[in-house]
Amino acid sequence: MTSIPHKLRSAAFYLGRPPFWAHFGHRALGYLQPDLDGRPHQAHAMGWARARAQPLGAVLMHFGLTPDGILPRLPADVLVDARHRVAGAPVRMGGPANVDLLYAVTRLLGARRALETGVAFGWSSLAFLSAMACNGGGRLVSVDRPYPGDGSEDFVGLAVPDYLVPHWTIVQEPDRNGLVKAAACFPQGVDIAHYDSDKTYRGRQFGYPILWRAVRPGGLFISDDIQDNMAFAHFVEQMRVSHGVVESGGKYIGIALKPGLKPAVN
Ligand SMILES: C[S@@+](CC[C@H](N)C(=O)[O-])C[C@H]1O[C@@H](n2cnc3c(N)ncnc32)[C@H](O)[C@@H]1O
Repeated sequence: MTSIPHKLRSAAFYLGRPPFWAHFGHRALGYLQPDLDGRPHQAHAMGWARARAQPLGAVLMHFGLTPDGILPRLPADVLVDARHRVAGAPVRMGGPANVDLLYAVTRLLGARRALETGVAFGWSSLAFLSAMACNGGGRLVSVDRPYPGDGSEDFVGLAVPDYLVPHWTIVQEPDRNGLVKAAACFPQGVDIAHYDSDKTYRGRQFGYPILWRAVRPGGLFISDDIQDNMAFAHFVEQMRVSHGVVESGGKYIGIALKPGLKPAVN
């Protein structure tokens, strides 16, 4: 449970930053609205995800991204180097996304433009940036509201090596405000959009449509931790889009393919 001093530090952190007020307001409003993240919703979402889970190779074969299910892998030395840097950090942050999955889809799509929410130490950012470097170059724009009031700001993105940083922009704001700004960096759309920030139903209800609109036809929308609530299930069912689910360490990742196979514009 969060302590009172931590809550007070968080409140001071938000109140001193006007771009964070919309986020803070929605968080406060959330306490007055019906709960969409409680245990029954989690159990429903877990069942939905588990029933659809497949190996990543099978999902990507179904999407036509690999003929044989063989997946490119992030070079081991890149991971070892990143782990070494992160191990020396004096703070803790949110857990990593599935780096192998993000690296593989970025390589297979030949992606050169990626948009993500949620950076923390930057494992997902490392996967996108490393894969796009192998694809011949690209740009990643990330939205991240640092953990409020705990001094972790200096360590956001630590997993990413210096040589990849010139291809990366972090919008240091909450999704509310930051996400629209980040999507506007890509007027031609993105090849991949990845959601890994505010895991509440309402947070996703806000962020998913913005990311989805930013994805070019034939591109991918990926969301982490879809077992938390029914937001991903409702989104893909309402949009009636081709989607797949991959299990990752007892959690689930949702992947949706935007209709229309338009080649990437470089
Ligand atoms: C699970 S971590 C992201 C992990 C990262 N993708 C990786 O693979 O290393 C979640 C991150 O999202 C940020 N975050 C949480 N809520 C947010 C919001 N509403 N807007 C923007 N960022 C948010 C957190 O501060 C944290 O840095």
